Amino acid sequence: MVKEQATRVILVGVGGATCSGKTTLAKHLKNIIPDSVIIHQDDFAPPQELVPIHPVHNVQDWDAPQGAIQWDRLIDFLRTVKKTGIIPPEHYSHDHLNEQKDIPVEDAVKEKWRKEFELIKQRKSEEGVRIVWGLVDGFLLYWHPDVIAELDVKIFLRVPEATLKERRHQRHGYHTAVQTDPEGSLWRDPPTYWEDVVWPAYVEAHTDMFADGDIEHGEPTDKVKGVLVIAPVGRELGAIVDECCDVLRASEMT
Ligand SMILES: Nc1ncnc2c1ncn2[C@@H]1O[C@H](COP(=O)(O)OP(=O)(O)O)[C@@H](O)[C@H]1O
Ligand SMILES: [Mg+2]
Repeated sequence: MVKEQATRVILVGVGGATCSGKTTLAKHLKNIIPDSVIIHQDDFAPPQELVPIHPVHNVQDWDAPQGAIQWDRLIDFLRTVKKTGIIPPEHYSHDHLNEQKDIPVEDAVKEKWRKEFELIKQRKSEEGVRIVWGLVDGFLLYWHPDVIAELDVKIFLRVPEATLKERRHQRHGYHTAVQTDPEGSLWRDPPTYWEDVVWPAYVEAHTDMFADGDIEHGEPTDKVKGVLVIAPVGRELGAIVDECCDVLRASEMT
């Protein structure tokens, strides 16, 4: 008789500012790790017509933490995935509509970790456990305490503002939800949106995560216990993937 397997879900936060490389990294990890799924926090933004208007700049504010995410919907979703180990079939993601430039990782790194995670999977299976990795990709992962509480592993990509701004300007637009159309609509940043809206909201959401509010250089505070802060700029993506996989392997042993 085939033994019934218990599912154990490990939720892994892949956080960081807009354009810090979260989705790129999460997709590489998904590609390497068997039984992994991605949860894009962007899919929990409100439909465009419900996005709040910035009180000073009078444009829609997609970034201020209070209004940027439908928090109850996200938290329920994370809890559901943690229980079931699957993305509910009715969940619709907008991620595939967005352009994704491929930043390659060396085959040797990918192969090494594929084998390692296959071994983990086998070993767990012999213990009667199916292990599922839920990779949660989001720019506001470490703001809401109930979201932080759901994450078993916490990774944060810290990229200097100048690089983020440059990458954001190169992005031609971003697909977002609207209530009436599953394909959503394309959002383009108005001029000075970075200075007026995106960066101040990022600072607001992250100051208490770092000592002295120094988001670019400070050590992490206790707000997000155990967070792994990675500075990817100037390093090979393969080295980042390697570091993350190492942390994931260690988390599975606890
Ligand atoms: N390690 C990297 N090195 C150079 N460019 C990168 C790297 N990771 C991502 N990028 C580029 O930065 C931009 C944003 O990446 P993306 O993964 O979509 O960020 P996010 O999901 O954090 O908004 C994309 O153009 C992507 O190709
Ligand atoms: Mg992304």
